[in-house]
Amino acid sequence: MKEQILKILRETNDFISGEVMCEVFGITRSAIWKHIKTLKEEGYEIESSTKKGYKLKSAPDTLSFAELSPYLKTKLIGKKVLYLDTVDSTNNYGKIIALDGAPDGTVIVSEEQTSGRGRLERNFLSPKYKGIWTSIIVRPSLEPIMAGRLTQIAAAALHLAIKEQNIISQIKWPNDIVVNGKKVAGVLIELNCELSEIKYVVVGVGINVNLDKEDFSNELQEKATSLKIEKEESINRKQLLGDFLNYFEKLYDEFIETEEMPTTLQLCKDNSAILGKEIKIINREKEEIGVALDIAPDGNLVVKYNDGKIKKIFSGEVSVRGLNGYI
Ligand code: BTN
Repeated sequence: MKEQILKILRETNDFISGEVMCEVFGITRSAIWKHIKTLKEEGYEIESSTKKGYKLKSAPDTLSFAELSPYLKTKLIGKKVLYLDTVDSTNNYGKIIALDGAPDGTVIVSEEQTSGRGRLERNFLSPKYKGIWTSIIVRPSLEPIMAGRLTQIAAAALHLAIKEQNIISQIKWPNDIVVNGKKVAGVLIELNCELSEIKYVVVGVGINVNLDKEDFSNELQEKATSLKIEKEESINRKQLLGDFLNYFEKLYDEFIETEEMPTTLQLCKDNSAILGKEIKIINREKEEIGVALDIAPDGNLVVKYNDGKIKKIFSGEVSVRGLNGYI
């Protein structure tokens, strides 16, 4: 009922009387008032007038389904959104509900993560209301070996969504999005499979949207930034998340329909932060230097090593760095 009241308030640009709402919804005036009170507590600014009724003046900057849905154009992704105030990690939560049968396309969004995780067991800073911390559960009928490609699909979708904000980003294979040489977003996919069949994949995405410089430790400031810092203005998180999920679905559909991902690959190559450059490939303690030549159709990176050998590297265990720093 609360959602329906919010919908009618949004659709009516002016005041709407309590009486009309009582009639439309078949509930009492005091029930309407209780829902309005809850909406106000959630951050909606609603003007009340004894004569004219209620008018929505502004909505809070939250990523609830009510706030996000006007931006979504998807058929599958985000048809079900679980919105949390706080959680340890949306990927952890995603894995639990996926085991419990959460449907294909379910999206988990949390306003903060207390133990956000990155690749290679790194921590991922996720302060409240400042970013987008989200996980998508997908259940493609594919062989497990194909799952890694979802990292490139999410990275390409991130690049496109960020571009809608007039910010040019680069994709640092395999899973980082970079603006002006510093990381603004990352992707962490986690897979549950049987021998020849994916049961589910949790595609975790973290975007540093409206973090300020002080939110990052001195050490992190060297290699991480936010879209707000780079654009010098706050970004609409709902628009950005909506755009990301819309692009993700488009690129995911292409992949599911054809088992190939030409659009994603083109985007990852055209906007790569590392192709053509000398890079350091760090695999556990071992470091090797080579030139990043290409991204293969399976999403792996093709590298020419200093001894002249050309090899494909799989993202699983490696970390890629520029010769003098992050890229
Ligand atoms: C990386 O930088 O290595 C990947 C970062 C992925 C962070 C996102 S935030 C939402 C989801 N939940 C997590 O704990 N991690 C991912």
